[in-house]
Amino acid sequence: MQNSFLPPPNSRDVVVGLVGCGVMGRGIAQIAALAGAQVHLNDSREGAAAAARQELLATFGKLVEKGKLDKAAADAAADRLQVGAQLQDLAGCHVIVEAIVEDLAVKKALFTSLEDIAGPDTILATNTSSLPVTAIAAGLRHPERVVGFHFFNPVPLMKIVEVIGGFLTTPEVADYLLALGRHWGHNAVRAKDTPGFIVNHAGRGYGTEGLRVLAEGIASVPVLDNILRDTAGFRLGPCELLDLTGLDVSHPVMESIYHQYYEEPRFRPQVNTRQMLTAGALGRKTGHGFYRYGADGKKEAIPEPVHATQLPSTVWLSRERPELAERIASLIVAAGIPIETSARPSDSALCIVTPLGEDATTCCVRENLDGRRTVAIESLFDASRRRVVMTTPATTADYLAMACGVFGATGIPVSVIRDSAGLVTQRVVTHIINIACEIAQQEIAEPADIDRAVTLGLGYPLGPLAWGDALGPNIVLAILNNLAQQTGDPRYRPSPWLQRRALLGLSLLHKEI
Ligand code: NAI
Repeated sequence: MQNSFLPPPNSRDVVVGLVGCGVMGRGIAQIAALAGAQVHLNDSREGAAAAARQELLATFGKLVEKGKLDKAAADAAADRLQVGAQLQDLAGCHVIVEAIVEDLAVKKALFTSLEDIAGPDTILATNTSSLPVTAIAAGLRHPERVVGFHFFNPVPLMKIVEVIGGFLTTPEVADYLLALGRHWGHNAVRAKDTPGFIVNHAGRGYGTEGLRVLAEGIASVPVLDNILRDTAGFRLGPCELLDLTGLDVSHPVMESIYHQYYEEPRFRPQVNTRQMLTAGALGRKTGHGFYRYGADGKKEAIPEPVHATQLPSTVWLSRERPELAERIASLIVAAGIPIETSARPSDSALCIVTPLGEDATTCCVRENLDGRRTVAIESLFDASRRRVVMTTPATTADYLAMACGVFGATGIPVSVIRDSAGLVTQRVVTHIINIACEIAQQEIAEPADIDRAVTLGLGYPLGPLAWGDALGPNIVLAILNNLAQQTGDPRYRPSPWLQRRALLGLSLLHKEI
């Protein structure tokens, strides 16, 4: 860092001003003070900064009790926390971090005041999650020292921070915050000033595609959530997640990112959450969203749907994709049902297809099968905790019962869905991977940083680019091409980043020279 005013980021001389002592401000103050910085707390609400200090001291005390923090370190951190009743008290700070209300006019007014108080070399950082850093800096005398420093809630546990340079931000300012964030114990990643930065941009795929599956009548809410938790390894289903965040927060974010990207179809929201928002069914906070919640906050228990079962005498399994057929054959063998090896099914066999990005109907017609006796099975994702059976519009109840009998024979739950290009998991996961590829293509962040930010910020089982590599970029491309063709929806058009790497046999994490 060229700026001689700034001490090295790991120095105990670093003085940080924190404006806004709400949930985020307190969290940032906690990690900064524990890492050795002097922290001045400020809040426009009378007594809020002093209350935040008291709360932080109580947190330090609890950490000491639990043996997670040394008493001497806690006392030293407490000494480093000061209350700056006036904004003027922040005059000597090296870095001022703003975590006030998410309102552009209010933030701009604060930064205008800070310019008059802080020296010309003080870095002015914003914890905004949705406003452009460039817009916050616009009109200031020194927009080059304004930078995004986007933490996640709860700050001490979510070990990721996005550092966002605005259009006029000097690169060294972002470099300093990257080093400071790392010294504070976080994974600091650099992001371009674009809507949603990395995490909230990459996170658009999961909810919107899940909602699209609901809107198409493919699966019910609990079936959708069960499938994505059990076959892909998400901690929460998309509806559970939306209920947790609250639709008063999530729906406007979905709309905002969609419009900020000029109606990019990949981010298109669905009407059902707009209706739920209007009805006040916000999720956990109102006791009713996609699910109902008791007074104790517990989610209603929804039993697994019961499907009729019977066993077929034989099963005919599509050999179009031998590697997928192998996986499914082992499940059928485990159920003790013989598999026909002839090219054509016998007259009464249950027919099973293994689509990649296609629907059951298309596979059935291409292989000249009887739609009444045909079902599709998810064959790409984990089948050890749940199997997903997809009917054609013609499948009869008898043959569905046979499929449930075969795939549920070992006691593993079976979810039944209606016909959908890419079943559920294929379309949701490849949509997420495609959006991450586009983030890489647009150079919003480095490929490895995209994966790091998504795993730490969203808790996905794998970074989306590594996930694409694990499935195979060619497979991901084939699924998306089929989805795009079957639906005619540009939402699924594959990113050029994915197309080129799949064609060249490269990793999705591969950067060009
Ligand atoms: P909060 O409502 O808990 O706290 C905001 C604090 O700022 C309050 O104590 C309020 O009195 C104070 N304040 C408001 N206007 C002020 C002003 N002009 N000057 C000084 N203090 C002022 O809000 P929260 O959740 O901590 O969010 C703060 C910022 O962090 C927002 O920009 C938000 O978008 C962002 N953010 C929030 C996350 C979250 O999960 N809550 C996650 C990531 C970013």
